[in-house]
Amino acid sequence: MSPDTQTHSLPVVRTIAELQDRLAGWRAAGARIGFVPTMGALHNGHLSLVGLAAEHADKVVVSIFVNPAQFAPHEDLDAYPRTEKEDAEKLAKHAADLIFAPNAKEMYPEGDDLSVHVEGLSEGLESDTRPHFFGGVAAVVTKLFHAVEPDVAVFGEKDYQQLLVVKKLVSDLGLAIEIVAGPTGREADGLAMSSRNAYLSANERKQAPQLFAAITEVAQQIKDGASIAEARDAGLAILQDAGFDPIDYLEVRDAESLAPIDAAVRPARVLVAAKLGTTRLIDNIALEV
Ligand code: PAJ
Repeated sequence: MSPDTQTHSLPVVRTIAELQDRLAGWRAAGARIGFVPTMGALHNGHLSLVGLAAEHADKVVVSIFVNPAQFAPHEDLDAYPRTEKEDAEKLAKHAADLIFAPNAKEMYPEGDDLSVHVEGLSEGLESDTRPHFFGGVAAVVTKLFHAVEPDVAVFGEKDYQQLLVVKKLVSDLGLAIEIVAGPTGREADGLAMSSRNAYLSANERKQAPQLFAAITEVAQQIKDGASIAEARDAGLAILQDAGFDPIDYLEVRDAESLAPIDAAVRPARVLVAAKLGTTRLIDNIALEV
């Protein structure tokens, strides 16, 4: 192995062929393979998923691939933070065994026309502002699952709609992959960890925890007997006071189908997406009833 494919004793492979070579050895030894797909710029939220994968598997593969297909032309593909060296150092200290960091050509060979659409769950919420997003996610996750063929894959609740889309993708394709959901890692002030938090100015960073405060308030008010409409208004007021604009959505939805609900009579989810300056942040929490 050449020195540049090895970072702090954690191997980095760039091609599907190399990846499958490594995996074949592990599989032959009877190892259960865990997988955590990421776009890099790793924070403790990501790393907690790696730890969770290690609890469910013998070997953990982490992919780092900033997937062009899930960014619209006006979005932050070029600006998206790329910190592979630091990511590799962090992963070496956690439970990862292998990094798969392909380039775009490896994942989307010349002439690639694959399109994967999970109907229903992909519609609404994130899709209303990012119509291309779940198509890009579903295509790359399908390709990654095909390349890694994991026994278990871990996704964060932070991206709740994505988690549900991936679960549906796995069941519709009949893949033998267990999907494990990891809880959202938060900063001490409640802000959900995100690679995009790095875009916030000092002032915006001070306001950002109000996103979590707003959904926490919505959930609390509903538990205390308020209607969804009343609770939602209270949450919107918090977001407006904090300077979020636009507020793409603040919704209380069925936790499994994401269908709109009139009353929280089944497990529900409070989901929000809003912009602070130029940075779009999302968050969600459970509403147990
Ligand atoms: P990325 O945003 O890098 O996130 C990778 C994984 O980390 C996702 O499962 C996401 O839900 C999870 N994650 C992000 N922030 C988290 C937090 N604060 N706590 C816990 N988990 C968190 O999501 C993607 O990449 C991409 O869409 C991907 C699935 C890799 C497909 O390209």
